[in-house]
Amino acid sequence: MAMLKSSLSFLVLGFAFFLCFIISAGDGSYVYFQFVQQWPPTTCRVQKKCSKPRPLQNFTIHGLWPSNYSNPTMPSNCNGSRFKKELLSPRMQSKLKISWPNVVSSNDTKFWESEWNKHGTCSEQTLNQVQYFEISHEMWNSFNITDILKNASIVPHPTQTWKYSDIVSAIQSKTQRTPLLRCKTDPAHPNANTQLLHEVVFCYGYNAIKQIDCNRTAGCKNQVNILFP
Ligand SMILES: *[C@@H]1O[C@H](CO)[C@@H](O)[C@H](O)[C@H]1NC(C)=O
Ligand SMILES: *[C@@H]1O[C@H](CO)[C@@H](O)[C@H](O)[C@H]1NC(C)=O
Ligand SMILES: *[C@@H]1O[C@H](CO)[C@@H](O)[C@H](O)[C@H]1NC(C)=O
Ligand SMILES: *[C@@H]1O[C@H](CO)[C@@H](O)[C@H](O)[C@H]1NC(C)=O
Ligand SMILES: *[C@@H]1O[C@H](CO)[C@@H](O)[C@H](O)[C@H]1NC(C)=O
Ligand SMILES: *[C@@H]1O[C@H](CO)[C@@H](O)[C@H](O)[C@H]1NC(C)=O
Ligand SMILES: *[C@@H]1O[C@H](CO)[C@@H](O)[C@H](O)[C@H]1NC(C)=O
Repeated sequence: MAMLKSSLSFLVLGFAFFLCFIISAGDGSYVYFQFVQQWPPTTCRVQKKCSKPRPLQNFTIHGLWPSNYSNPTMPSNCNGSRFKKELLSPRMQSKLKISWPNVVSSNDTKFWESEWNKHGTCSEQTLNQVQYFEISHEMWNSFNITDILKNASIVPHPTQTWKYSDIVSAIQSKTQRTPLLRCKTDPAHPNANTQLLHEVVFCYGYNAIKQIDCNRTAGCKNQVNILFP
């Protein structure tokens, strides 16, 4: 009897471990997606190492990041499958060259590889590699941020500045969802009372289908005007 009892508890324990294993195996503890688009002129100004600066005047994709409200560093570098270029059709690759170029160097594949391996692997249970890149491209296609801002008279300018809320309102009125802005300090003027608009983030629910409001607000310094270079 005692023996039966202990083997039973052993079974229960084993089952509990098994459950833990399947729950954590994909390491898919994310809650929503951040779809991050960058303004290439700011990226190049900040990184100072754009080897082949291309005159990119479109907001382009930085990445689609499975995210977690409680853990701001979000899940990353999960144990999913490694990036395989061959999975992306030539047609898809040529689309991604426009929407998701490597702003810093000329090797676009290298950028896609690092974004998939760092972020895509953490949501592989929802989006496989092909779906991850297709959905990102569709998200990029659904709103042209450059155009939205232009229609609100927010255009690149060397000195004119905007308030955080000016830029957010312009985008929000078109998407019906609150985006998040991310800014950078201008390395050429670190003490300036302005910051550079770097990225616009759209948030999506767990399945990457429904756009939702972003509610993290730490992307830019409060009360500091924003330059759109
Ligand atoms: C957020 O991430 C942390 C650390 O990775 C994890 O412990 C936590 O369960 C996650 N939260 C949710 C709601 O998934
Ligand atoms: C912006 O994207 C459009 C549409 O794909 C493309 O035709 C155009 O060349 C791009 N412009 C720049 C400056 O990259
Ligand atoms: C991936 O697997 C390795 C080895 O099994 C482990 O050390 C590491 O913590 C895992 N990483 C994640 C993000 O789960
Ligand atoms: C571009 O990056 C990919 C992925 O890292 C690599 O396999 C390839 O050799 C690189 N191409 C060039 C021309 O450096
Ligand atoms: C977005 O809008 C801008 C400004 O109207 C335009 O120059 C650009 O080509 C558009 N980009 C895409 C990808 O359509
Ligand atoms: C911007 O304005 C142009 C001209 O009125 C219009 O065709 C275009 O659809 C508008 N774009 C956005 C994103 O509102
Ligand atoms: C953002 O919203 C989610 C879902 O409504 C909530 O769980 C989370 O606590 C919020 N995070 C912050 C920082 O307000």
